[in-house]
Parts: sequence; C-alpha cells; structure tokens
Amino acid sequence: MTISVPQTPPGVVVVGSINMDLVVRSTRLPAPGETLIGDSLSEIPGGKGANQAVGAARLGADVSLIGRLGDDGFGDTLRRALGVEGIQLDGVELTRECCSGVAIIGVEDSGQNCITVVPGANGRLTPDDVQRQALAIAQADVLLLQLEVPIQTVLAAIELAKTNDVLTILDPAPAIRDYPPELLSVDVVCPNESEAALLTGIEITTTESALRAAEKLQQLGARQVVITLGDKGAVFRDASGNSGHLEPFSVTTVDTTAAGDAFAAALGIRLAEGGSLQDAGRFACAAGAVAASRKGAQPGMPSRADVNALVRVARTFSGPGEPFYS
Ligand code: RIB
Repeated sequence: MTISVPQTPPGVVVVGSINMDLVVRSTRLPAPGETLIGDSLSEIPGGKGANQAVGAARLGADVSLIGRLGDDGFGDTLRRALGVEGIQLDGVELTRECCSGVAIIGVEDSGQNCITVVPGANGRLTPDDVQRQALAIAQADVLLLQLEVPIQTVLAAIELAKTNDVLTILDPAPAIRDYPPELLSVDVVCPNESEAALLTGIEITTTESALRAAEKLQQLGARQVVITLGDKGAVFRDASGNSGHLEPFSVTTVDTTAAGDAFAAALGIRLAEGGSLQDAGRFACAAGAVAASRKGAQPGMPSRADVNALVRVARTFSGPGEPFYS
C-alpha cells in the first residue's frame, strides 16, 4: 500500500528551545562522583524546539520557529544552521546580554545519553513573543510544543492554536511532575515512558501499563496519545478509544539524542497530511529510529527518503502490507 501525501506541504509552527549541544562521547556514562576520560567533544546544533523544526523541514513541511537566542557566538551559529534548513526565523528573537541555550550531553557507546540543559535565552521566551507571531500560528496546520521554554509561554501558544483550530502536539519533555491541567488539553500528547509515568503516576513496564497510562492521559485532558517506548516501539490511543502497539523498526542505535524530536515532528506532519493516529505513529517510529541510528541532534534528523528507506526494509522482512509514504 502506498499512502500519498497532499501536494501542498503542511504548515508547521514550532514554539520551543534552541540550544548548542556540547556532546562528549565516552565508552560509558560516568557514575555520580566519577571522572572518566572521554573520546571526543563536539558542538552540535540542538534544542528540542529547533530539532523538531529541522525534523519537520526535512520531512517536507513549511516550518516557522518561535524561540529566543542569546547575543553570543552560539546564537549566530544556531541561527545560521536553521536558516540553511529553510526554516522561517522571523519569530526567533535576540535576547541582549544573555547566553544562548546550551545542553551538556554525555553519550556512551550503547547510544544512551544524559543531558543537562542551561536554558539561557530559552528561559526568556514570553507569551508576548508568541502573541507577536499569532498570524503564523493561526495560518499553520500544526503547532509543535515541548517544555524547554517557560510553561506560561507554552500555554499561551496552545490557547492561540486552539482558537484557530490548529492541531496541537505536545512533547512533554523534559518531564515535569507538577503542571497546570490546561497543559494536557492538546490534540496529541507524545511523552516517552518516563515522562508518561511522571505525568500519570503509572509505572510503565509493559505494553499494557503503557496503554493504561495513555488512557489516563486522555482522562487528564489529551484528545489522543502516543507513548514512545524506545526500542520497544510505541503505543497509541486515539480519540475514539482505538488503541494498540506500534512495532519498533530495527536499527543499530548510535545516539538516542533527539530521536523523540524526530518522532514528534514526523507525527505532526503525517497527521497534517491526513494520516490516522496509528498511521502517523508508525511513520514517526520510523523517523525516530533513523535519528537514533545517527550521531547528533539536528544532523541526525531524517529526510522523507530516509524514513521511506527504513519502512521499505521493514516491509521486505515482514511481508507486504506495510505502508510507505510517497
Ligand atoms: O531532545 C534532544 C535535545 O534535548 C538536545 O538537542 C538538547 O539540546 C536538549 O534540549
């Protein structure tokens, strides 16, 4: 089965963080109090908002980003990298006398990571900044959100999008325990298992417990839910109560940084193109798997051809019937 996409590219607005990732690779991650000798240090453009913007652009969307950069060298480099991707940056403002966001990331040989974020200018993104881009949001098909910028700003963006019938997708990362109930009143929430556990209080150890958490997230206000389960795929639960497990795509994991961002971007685009939650979740699983098979946040974001290539390989192994996305 071939699923064709509409001729006009979906319009995506992302409200979120822009970081410079300082990535140290080492054989394994250090334990608390331990000093390790690392293998390499790289400066790589990242930030959950910027990563999702790049992910969406590479999958073929028209993308605008709303965010803030500091007046430092990282800010210049990050703006240039986003410009190269063709992302509209009118909504990316400069914060004077402030550093750009930075993420200190350790990645071990297994591909697992740990991340400490210093928000810098991301922490100064205000509801007024969002309001100034109200027209861009009103004209979009999808609004992508995460939690590396102030929560009041995220709430302002959700409200604006809802007033204009724009599809809202929240990737609730980094995880938070205390949140205003309006935060989950979005069209789709797509946490990973630890974020879903924190939001719902349900420990996720199996597909069944993940599906229970998905149902709880709906009771808490989300219209539809997809919970990612790392190399175990994902579960979904749609607005009609249809739910199920999405099989993982098999790849060699090199770096899981931003796999969730690739997932959220792909989910949003496929839904904007008219896919069901299940179909969009499958597409997103493939995008996340490609990202996990590559080093670095923005450099690892897949194109549509990359996602199709992985889906095609999976189809070869599991027989006909897998969709592929032209
Ligand atoms: O989701 C991955 C991102 O989280 C990294 O690029 C880093 O900047 C942190 O924000």
